[in-house]
Amino acid sequence: MAKERSKIKIYNDWKLTDRMEDKIIINCALPYANSTPHIGNIAGCYIEGDIYNRFTKLFGKNSVFISGSDEYGTPTTIRAEKENKTPKEIVDYYHAEQKRVFSSIDIEFDYFGRTTSENHAKFVQEVYRDLKNKGYIGERLMISPFCPTCKKFLPDRYVTGTCPRCGNPTARGDQCEECGRNNDPQDLLEPKCSISGDTPEFLETRHMFLLLGKFQDFLKEWIESQNSWRPNVRSFSLSFIESGLKERAITRDIEWGVPVPEPGYEGKRFYVWFEALLGYISNAQEYSSQAGNPELWQDFYKNGKSYYFMGKDNIFFHSIMLPAILKGYGHEIKLPTRINGNEYLRFAGKKFSKSKGIGYNVNEILQIVDKDSLRYYISSILPESSDSDFTLQEMVGKVNGELADKYGNYANRVLAFCLKKDIIPEEDGIIDEEDARVIKMSESNFEEYLKLMENLEFRKALSLWLELVSYSNSYFNRSQPWKLIATDRSACSRKLHISLRLLDYCTLMLHPFVPSGTSRIWESYHEGAIMGTFDELIAGNEKFTIKSSEIPFKKLEVQEEPKNGLNLKVGKILEAGYHPGADSLLLLKVSLGERNIKLVAGLRKYYDPDALVGRKIIVVENLKWAKIRGEESQGMLLAAQDSMGAHIITTNEEEGSSVKIGEYEYDGEQKIEIDDLKAYDLRVDIKDGHSEITGLIGRNRLSLNVNNKGLLIDGGAQDKSTVR
Ligand code: 2FM
Ligand code: ZN
Repeated sequence: MAKERSKIKIYNDWKLTDRMEDKIIINCALPYANSTPHIGNIAGCYIEGDIYNRFTKLFGKNSVFISGSDEYGTPTTIRAEKENKTPKEIVDYYHAEQKRVFSSIDIEFDYFGRTTSENHAKFVQEVYRDLKNKGYIGERLMISPFCPTCKKFLPDRYVTGTCPRCGNPTARGDQCEECGRNNDPQDLLEPKCSISGDTPEFLETRHMFLLLGKFQDFLKEWIESQNSWRPNVRSFSLSFIESGLKERAITRDIEWGVPVPEPGYEGKRFYVWFEALLGYISNAQEYSSQAGNPELWQDFYKNGKSYYFMGKDNIFFHSIMLPAILKGYGHEIKLPTRINGNEYLRFAGKKFSKSKGIGYNVNEILQIVDKDSLRYYISSILPESSDSDFTLQEMVGKVNGELADKYGNYANRVLAFCLKKDIIPEEDGIIDEEDARVIKMSESNFEEYLKLMENLEFRKALSLWLELVSYSNSYFNRSQPWKLIATDRSACSRKLHISLRLLDYCTLMLHPFVPSGTSRIWESYHEGAIMGTFDELIAGNEKFTIKSSEIPFKKLEVQEEPKNGLNLKVGKILEAGYHPGADSLLLLKVSLGERNIKLVAGLRKYYDPDALVGRKIIVVENLKWAKIRGEESQGMLLAAQDSMGAHIITTNEEEGSSVKIGEYEYDGEQKIEIDDLKAYDLRVDIKDGHSEITGLIGRNRLSLNVNNKGLLIDGGAQDKSTVR
């Protein structure tokens, strides 16, 4: 047996001195200050920014992690109008809320600023003047939607209509949320003002335009040379350029925004995207001033690298608009090093959406799961190269099976053994074949991990971590320290030493993903905290000081995926008449396609029986049959109740068809009571002048549909009217 040190070597190819020269500015898309961040947003970019920031710091790089609230523009004014507040009140509230939410899941920015800062406006105006002087900005007359009722030009978002590409009837004038198409309000079919519901006129107005076409050739060549970008980002950007870069208006007829320093533009403001993109630099400037070195940001932007994390709907702005603006502005500022656009996280088959109430926001999910488990699960399903699905069951499976059972349990077994047997893990100058193999394996695994992390391949890096955890577990099992301690105490001590070294790797590799739990584990067997670089942490720890074997990961309770227990069917009224014993009730005979049923309905005050014959209705088919004033009712029809009376819910689809709630088909066995209906909280929801019937599945409010077509309300009903 060779006499060698059993210390695991520090990775070979990666020299700390080279790496220290890297200055990296890590930016996450500035979230609109108009709602609580959603898990979809977290998976879209914030967790990746945070993982990368923690990683680069451990890797010995000089990095700063920056974002801030995107406070101007129509997302804010829409919210303010809805809540009858001023835009300022909205952004003050949500800026604080976003900061609180990010820190509640350990997303720790070095600086989280606001685009309403004075410095931001100053910088935006400076860049604008500079671009104008250099001939990159021109004034144009444009046609804009003007609402004759509201007597003002409408921001693109305030116009809704049918998307010309996918037919989504609720597409917005700036973008279609279904297919992602960037729209012009004029592209929409049957455009409507979302405030008044009227058809806008398209009138002339003056605006400043960024002459993007001037950057066409430059951008094409520049993007073509970006071999490290993810293929989705690169090909999307190139095909966008292929189709020709058009000049883009960078001012708007709005009141809430950065003022445009031009005579005649007093009533106009910069378009939110033009100024928000400059928020990366203005926030870095503010960070620098706070750090006592106002020029610091220049060092990063002129001599360093810049990484941008965002969801895929933001790619164009970062890979084309921002580079064009920065290139035009010059001043030695480097263009983005990496543009990292993620695909979408889906929930129950749909894109997470704050506005549509699909999925959980961070506050809601933290009532179900702790932040470490949440971060671990999201990291393992990051939508890096394709959409991915968030499910509670999978989360429970991964957290319990991987984080708690594999990693937590490994840490606990090694630490508890050392504590119980009062044995000090130490090298003894010997390594056997098994030791040599595991040392080699962990070194190469770690090196590979470093490369993947550098290249933003977080999911793969995490699966390498899981491999190492499994490998560590089996090394410990094969070593059988519980036997060895009686026969060869010195070898036992060595094996435990190596086991703890493996735990070091496992803990540090996981740390960027799950910072809190790993810190606690690390501190339970080291003198200090996880501070400093990988090199310092691994090389600097020859001795272990085991204080506890307690593991901070609790197993999650298995959560039932919510179900749709409402069997809703389209029915057609065949006959209608008065109930002989009650003056508010009607008796109906209804066809459900393959069979007929009898219903008692409280519609007599609102509907004439004859007018109902032939109408389509929605029937709760699995309701317990009941005798109502002597007449049997074999189900119940749905109607919306508002101050005007009752309005039957109807559809043009075939009788017998099933009604889904969102994507959820009926999935129950039992008959239900009337009271069970309450859990679904069926109601009318009016958005942008468009009514739908929605219901709750678990915590998600989803819209009721037959063959993906929304239900109709006879005569319309007020917003939030109850449906039953
Ligand atoms: O999509 C969004 O939430 C935008 N507020 C992102 C802006 S990123 C950049 F411009 F700052
Ligand atoms: Zn209007």
